[in-house]
Amino acid sequence: MLKIRLSTNLLPLCLLFSLTVFTSTRSEAQSIVIPVETQHNALVLQTDSSKYLGTVYFGKKLSKSSEYAQVKNQSKQTVDYTGMLNSVYTPSGSRNLLEPALTVTHSDGNNSADLTYVSHEVKKIDGNVSLISILLKDPAYNFNVTLFYKIYYKEDVIEQWSSIKHNEKGNVTLHKYASANLHLTGSAYYLNQYHGDWVKEMQPEESKLTHGIKTLDSKLGTRANLFQPSVFMVSVNKPATEDEGTVLFASLEYSGNFRTDLEVDYQDNLRIISGINNYASPYTLKPNEEFVTPIFLYTLSTQGKGVASRNLQNWARNYKLLDGKGTRLTLLNNWEATYFDFNESKLAGLLKDTKKLGVDLFLLDDGWFANKYPRNGDVAGLGDWEENKQKLPNGISSLVKEAQNNNVKFGIWIEPEMVNPKSMLYEKHPDWVIKQPKRDEHYFRNQLVLDLTNPKVQDFVFGVVDDLFTKNPALAYIKWDCNSVIFNAHSATLKNQNHFYIEYMRGLYNVLERIRAKYPKVPMMLCSGGGGRVDYAALQYFTEFWPSDNTDPLERIFMQWEYSYFYPAIASANHVTDWGKQPIKFRTDVAMMGKLGFDIVVNDLVANDLKFCQDAIKNYDTVKSIIWQGDQYRLSDPRSSNVASMLYINEQKSSGVIFNYLVSSRYGANSNLPVLLKGLDPAKNYKIQEINLYPGTTSTIKGDQIFSGDFLMKVGFNPDLNLARTSVVLKVEESN
Ligand code: DGJ
Repeated sequence: MLKIRLSTNLLPLCLLFSLTVFTSTRSEAQSIVIPVETQHNALVLQTDSSKYLGTVYFGKKLSKSSEYAQVKNQSKQTVDYTGMLNSVYTPSGSRNLLEPALTVTHSDGNNSADLTYVSHEVKKIDGNVSLISILLKDPAYNFNVTLFYKIYYKEDVIEQWSSIKHNEKGNVTLHKYASANLHLTGSAYYLNQYHGDWVKEMQPEESKLTHGIKTLDSKLGTRANLFQPSVFMVSVNKPATEDEGTVLFASLEYSGNFRTDLEVDYQDNLRIISGINNYASPYTLKPNEEFVTPIFLYTLSTQGKGVASRNLQNWARNYKLLDGKGTRLTLLNNWEATYFDFNESKLAGLLKDTKKLGVDLFLLDDGWFANKYPRNGDVAGLGDWEENKQKLPNGISSLVKEAQNNNVKFGIWIEPEMVNPKSMLYEKHPDWVIKQPKRDEHYFRNQLVLDLTNPKVQDFVFGVVDDLFTKNPALAYIKWDCNSVIFNAHSATLKNQNHFYIEYMRGLYNVLERIRAKYPKVPMMLCSGGGGRVDYAALQYFTEFWPSDNTDPLERIFMQWEYSYFYPAIASANHVTDWGKQPIKFRTDVAMMGKLGFDIVVNDLVANDLKFCQDAIKNYDTVKSIIWQGDQYRLSDPRSSNVASMLYINEQKSSGVIFNYLVSSRYGANSNLPVLLKGLDPAKNYKIQEINLYPGTTSTIKGDQIFSGDFLMKVGFNPDLNLARTSVVLKVEESN
């Protein structure tokens, strides 16, 4: 084994790790082995004698890293006719026969690409994070691709992306430009994907992948996740359970059109190629221009889905979600309480209710703006962001003041990317609107999308937010909505329409960057008529997301369960509303499982319901740091039993909270068996007490009993759910 330090003109020498080059035992040719290692796993890349870089291993880390060079020799699969089935970034037009990661037309009109290893660098960013970059070059053209692997060691998470560059004589066209190209080996692969629609977000579907290609994608432009989000899981060999099996969780960090191809090839390996959807988007790359793809995010667990989800949740709070380690504001929203029908005095009453309820903030929703075409419904006014004088003669600033008088904060709804055709904005700037010049307009919720590829429109959208904050410095919260998809994709000003979808996203991120540069911390909710736009590129700018307009608590138990695999509870805005038939306690308990809010008419609550809510908010204050920052364990899956049970426990394993629900209303349904707890310290003793009791009721749980963690994780604890006790919240406290 020979150790060398590769030179680089990009990085200071002190930041470089030593790079290891192993001599292959198989041939005399020197083979480069690049282990991309996290705490428990290794993704191992290796060159062959022709310098093609392939993936030779992705699984549990080996104790002796020198043995990675032997992995390849253990495979006796059928012939690889191409010599590149396991390519780390499959180019097309040369030897490749399968789905490519990269397809190009060179400046001379040639359609072939090939990529060989040139060099790699390892940069240590801090004690936990490092970045590997690998330079690949086309031997026949002045064209190269750099692959980046950002490693979050402790969390077992990898972020991968690519940068494409050339110095040919003219422009190059990129027809496909993936972020990542993974290669997994196993006897079978089970894909757990999601589908949905408005009020039906995050519906899981698991199936065995058959040979050929399965594509997960979106072509909606905005609100891109409406029918299918980019998050998915792949279990290897057999379907993973919560605590067993090998499973990869992955998603593209991108809010626009995405495409993930999962191809089981003729050798029975699985190739996963993910990136921006190349649909209608061939990209013209000028000499020396750098095309940087979005990030493909993944974590591998060999201990089931629970570990993978906690990896992602930890990673998100530590590195991605805006203010992931911070706190959040509880709130009262007026959307379902008033819809568009409100005025100053009604809002003054709601501000008092906010105080009475005991939450931190009042959130004014849609309907506060536009005068020529007042926003009294969803058919007009969108785009005209001045206060409606009839509803709010004294403007937003007087409401902010009134909120301060009530000792609560004030937040506001906007949907700045959109326009109603019935608006002054549309009349003044028809060229700012996305539409086809020769075709009829087609609407989604009576509205059209503004053309964020146009820098003037970017200024306008930034201005909507900036104006609100400039005029109302005490404004404490923004709900950013996005209700339309893009029909008739066309910009009146963009020179190359093939770049439309990509430039839209660049425009959006540019606006969000500008907002965060000026207002780094103000909490913002990412809403897209529900969860139509939840992804980790967007969540860098937002503190929370709105999972769905469907707030029926029974539905939410299932949806929040699925979201929790990929996103931490602190990011999930859960509101108590009048959806569903369940009592207020059930509705509130479910909303407490993330970031709690209310969207009800407080005045309509009967005395005990109000008292319950007020007490629940106080209880929430005592457990919210565990819910937001603790480890989440799924104890009983509502899809396979009558009981849904979810535990959150703090880092010291000394304090936790368990939410339990009966999800069946059939005769005699109950929690007949104890629920096995997880994540406790077996050597510690715990006391379990019921909290969030409805006024006048008493718990059937004896709160003074003490159990060892060992007992609770082997025998379990029965929350005593039955048709008279459908929702039970338990506080777990270490006790001596
Ligand atoms: C869709 C959102 O999901 C709702 O919460 C609400 O804000 C409406 N838009 C307002 O138009």
